[in-house]
Amino acid sequence: KKILVIHGPNLNFLGIREKGVYGEMSFNELNDYLLKTAEEMGISLEIFQSNCEGDLIDRLQQAYYDEVDGIIINPGAYTHYSYALRDAIASINIPTVEVHLSNIHKREEFRHTSVTAPVCIGQIAGFGAYSYILGMQALSKKLNIK
Ligand code: DQA
Repeated sequence: KKILVIHGPNLNFLGIREKGVYGEMSFNELNDYLLKTAEEMGISLEIFQSNCEGDLIDRLQQAYYDEVDGIIINPGAYTHYSYALRDAIASINIPTVEVHLSNIHKREEFRHTSVTAPVCIGQIAGFGAYSYILGMQALSKKLNIK
């Protein structure tokens, strides 16, 4: 099965940005960890990152044409206000899991709202890099991978 991981804005700065919140793991280390785990799970994983809302939307629409089986998305701060990203997720009819490294619900008030989660299967937040692994496990279950 084909799963696409989409990282939104500033996630390419992992290991540099707010280490107290997001940890020491670099963006490349995170992606290596995801690729390795996916391989062990028999999942073919593709990873995409952009800081631009429109590019994230274009990639979601491309996933529709590519017939991707499932999506794991960390929309970064777009989570909290991008109706355009929400509409894109709702448009493509691909099971999508929203993930966050931090527990957005115990942070600033503006992070408590996700406009994207209601069009996803569910949301996983607060487990650092492992949030993405939990997302993969949730999708495997949904897609009946082994
Ligand atoms: C984040 C949480 C968002 O509020 C923030 O804007 C991010 C990262 C997370 O993974 O914890 O960029 O999505």
